[in-house]
Amino acid sequence: MKSKIENSSELPIGIFDSGLGGLSICKEIMDVLPNESLVYLADSKNAPYGEKSKEEIITFSIKNTELLLELGCKVIVVACNTATTNAINVLRERYDVPFVGIEPAIKPAALQTITGKIGVLATKGTLSSDLFLSTSYQFRDELEIIEVEGTNLVRLIEKGELEETIPLLEKYILPMVNQGVDSIVLGCTHYPFLIPMIRELISEEISIIDSGEAVAKQIQNLLEKDNLLNQNTASNANRFYTNNDVEILKRFLKRIDLDATEISFLEF
Ligand code: DGL
Repeated sequence: MKSKIENSSELPIGIFDSGLGGLSICKEIMDVLPNESLVYLADSKNAPYGEKSKEEIITFSIKNTELLLELGCKVIVVACNTATTNAINVLRERYDVPFVGIEPAIKPAALQTITGKIGVLATKGTLSSDLFLSTSYQFRDELEIIEVEGTNLVRLIEKGELEETIPLLEKYILPMVNQGVDSIVLGCTHYPFLIPMIRELISEEISIIDSGEAVAKQIQNLLEKDNLLNQNTASNANRFYTNNDVEILKRFLKRIDLDATEISFLEF
């Protein structure tokens, strides 16, 4: 059954991810929409989603959405490629609140590639989803897409062990480069945290593309269209909740310089 919420411009934007990855999207949202309040859920207890079944990903996504609705959010951002590609259609069917999702940025890569070869680094759950398959199929005549699963990257990022990803990145990225890609799409919101390490491995000519800014602009358009842009910033607050390690969440927020009104542990 669809559940109704009463939309109001002063309500927060709700954002969820399997963990810390969606913070990279929060950063973009705060840059584009500084007048908005945010509520962020890091479902780190259940990370990585990328190795779970579609049914499990849907169950987690419903749980996160229900909580964000209880917390009074006016729009839900699925800040996770794996959850978007596996669950957003179910969420849209089930709830009346608007959803914005994130998918690997194949189209932007297609528009700028010169070699016609692009790499996509994403989770197993994203790469095997119907949504990703149908998007990549649309580009079958113009692009060679080299897909690589970023196995264990999310696990290490969730532990805050970013440097430890370097040997894995070498294994995943260098073969793409050797095959002639000139664009690498980061198809997981955790991966922007690895851009400094990836940059060390590849030449300047290769672009690294992620969808963060595009998603923030999409949210802006949606709020404008629905008359939901917040005009009253007096009681603004950015609240971040994790069901796992609060200290790691704090460290990541500091790393990307995000202003938080509240950072707490929450059972969900
Ligand atoms: N941030 C999620 C994504 O964008 C990570 C998935 C996972 O937890 O494996 O796909």
